[in-house]
Amino acid sequence: MKRVLILALAMCTLCTTTLWAEPTGKDLIDYRKTVMSAIGAHAGAIAAMVRNKVDYDHMRAQAAAMAETVSTINDIFPAGSGPAAGETEALAVIWTDAAGFAKAVADSQAAAESFADAADAGDPAAIGKAFGALAGTCKGCHDNYRLAN
Ligand code: HEC
Repeated sequence: MKRVLILALAMCTLCTTTLWAEPTGKDLIDYRKTVMSAIGAHAGAIAAMVRNKVDYDHMRAQAAAMAETVSTINDIFPAGSGPAAGETEALAVIWTDAAGFAKAVADSQAAAESFADAADAGDPAAIGKAFGALAGTCKGCHDNYRLAN
């Protein structure tokens, strides 16, 4: 009984310090970079299949994962995660040009959905075309809202 209580208390301490703590600007930036890296990794896996470097039959899985992950882009630019909050390539204009940025997000999400539909349908030419369109939306946002590197 005592042990259970101690365990419960220990878990509670963990909760407050690790789960319920208010995220810092650095936490938000680190999370965003991790999500963008995941999106980049999906793009890399998809490109390898589109260019026939490998012949895995993973297009649907990668496309679905890509669309799901791109659907979270809305959430990963909260106020307080800009250049004043830490080391980030996100430009301050994201938070001053909210309408333009929202459009860049929506364009990419629509392209990711179309790409996932093409992957479901399975026609290689249509998949390649839809992937090119999606990549164009990544570049479109990066050109305007990410530090050039
Ligand atoms: C609506 C804007 C937007 C869209 C759409 C977008 N990105 Fe990004 N991306 C950014 C911004 C801003 C950063 C910089 C993040 C930071 O440093 O905090 C970034 C960073 C990255 C990074 C670097 C992550 C790191 O480790 O620092 C990669 C890789 C990336 N994006 C890939 C992609 C790919 C691939 C797509 C398209 C499928 C995409 N992005 C779509 C805005 C966008």
